[in-house]
This record gives sequence, C-alpha cells and structure tokens, in this order.
Amino acid sequence: MTLSTLKSRRFLQTISLALAVGISGNLLASPVLILPSVDNAKWRTECAGCHMLYHPALLPERSWRKMMSGLDDHFGKQLKLNAAAQKEITEFLASHAAEHSKSSRAKNIAKSTQAGQTPLRIEETAFFKLHHDNIDADVWQRPAIGSKTNCKACHPDAEKHNFDEDTIKIPR
Ligand code: HEC
Ligand code: HEC
Repeated sequence: MTLSTLKSRRFLQTISLALAVGISGNLLASPVLILPSVDNAKWRTECAGCHMLYHPALLPERSWRKMMSGLDDHFGKQLKLNAAAQKEITEFLASHAAEHSKSSRAKNIAKSTQAGQTPLRIEETAFFKLHHDNIDADVWQRPAIGSKTNCKACHPDAEKHNFDEDTIKIPR
C-alpha cells in the first residue's frame, strides 16, 4: 500500500467515526485514539490488583466520585484504602475524568453520558455502546475475553491508553 492510500484510508476511517459520533472538527484533528498519558503512584498500586487500570477519561467525574465514596461495596468487593489514599486517588480520577481531559475524544465520552446518569461501568456509556454494539454476544464469552470489562483482551495497548482501531485484535 502506498502512503497516500494509507492516508486516505485513515482519513475515511476518521470521517466515518466523526459521523458516527456526530461531531466533526475536533475529531478530524486527532485521528488516533490514544488517551493522554496520566499517572499516579497510589492509583497504580491500589487499582490494578484485580483488573486492568481504567483510564480516568473513560468515565465522567461524577462516576468516579460516586465509585470512590462506595469502597465498602466495590462491585461486591470491599476496598480497604486509608483516608489519605482514598482522597488522593479520588482527586486524581476526578481531575483527569472525561470532561476534563485535553483529548477531544475523551470529551465525547463525557458528552455521550446523559446528564442525570452516573454510570459506574464503562460499558454503560453511550460511547462504549456505539463502538461495541456490533460485536456478537458469543464473542464476549470467548475464554480469552470473558467480559466487556476486559478491554485489553481486544485492545492489547489499553493500559498504554491506546484504543486506536489499528491496534485491535479480537481473540478467537
Ligand atoms: C479487590 C479487587 C479490586 C480492586 C483492588 C479494585 N477493583 Fe475495581 N472492580 C473489581 C470488580 C470485582 C469489578 C467488577 C468486575 C466485573 O463485574 O466485570 C470492578 C470493576 C471496576 C470498574 C468498572 C469496570 C466496567 O466498566 O465494568 C471500574 C471503573 C473500577 N473497578 C475501578 C477501580 C478503581 C478506581 C480502583 C482503585 C480505587 C479499583 N477498581 C480497585 C474489583 C476490584
Ligand atoms: C471483544 C473485544 C473488545 C473488548 C473486550 C473491548 N473492545 Fe473496544 N473495540 C472493539 C472493536 C472491534 C472496536 C472497533 C469498533 C468500531 O468499528 O468502532 C472497538 C473500539 C473501541 C474504541 C474506539 C476506537 C477508535 O479508534 O475509535 C474505544 C475507545 C474502545 N473500543 C474502548 C474500549 C474499552 C475502554 C474497553 C473495556 C472497558 C473495550 N473497548 C473493550 C473490541 C473490543
């Protein structure tokens, strides 16, 4: 493939995504879906023990605040954090949440979440549904995937914040 066909392919992909999401200008400027790199040592220690680290821009601020104020029942698990760690992680997540992210695409995540709704699961956001609704139910149940939450099964670079379409590999 020549560089120009590659470029036009990327351009078409970007256009179709722009149409799908219903926005144009900002999206065209950032064709690759890599969320800004963010880090916090306590977040890395406390939030990666049971599942991958979910980028703060995958949910709006109110979702993180609600989640972080209910650590006694975190999806059926009890998370034991001292008050200082709880506060630090809450502020870290809140300040990099979807609507505060510099990435225009993260802002789309925020926009796609209706006011009055506070999703605690990424898969409940309209943005996630838009991109994943055409995946058959049996695909999610494949042993190498298991759940919608297991982002890195299909997005191998998810923990590097890279969800770009070119990196997607759906395990058989
Ligand atoms: C003791 C294990 C454990 C730890 C530690 C933990 N979680 Fe979880 N987390 C879970 C479980 C269990 C689920 C639900 C998984 C499922 O049903 O697929 C979950 C789900 C989530 C989800 C929803 C994912 C989705 O879209 O379905 C988010 C977001 C999340 N955790 C964030 C955090 C954050 C932030 C921290 C650190 C403060 C954290 N978790 C620490 C066990 C843990
Ligand atoms: C079964 C495999 C699978 C899993 C698991 C999965 N995805 Fe995806 N994801 C896909 C596919 C396939 C696409 C491309 C769909 C399309 O045409 O927009 C996609 C697209 C995306 C996009 C848009 C990419 C782009 O370039 O525009 C984002 C963002 C995304 N996924 C995030 C996530 C997150 C976050 C999780 C976990 C909470 C997740 N995905 C779990 C398969 C998966």
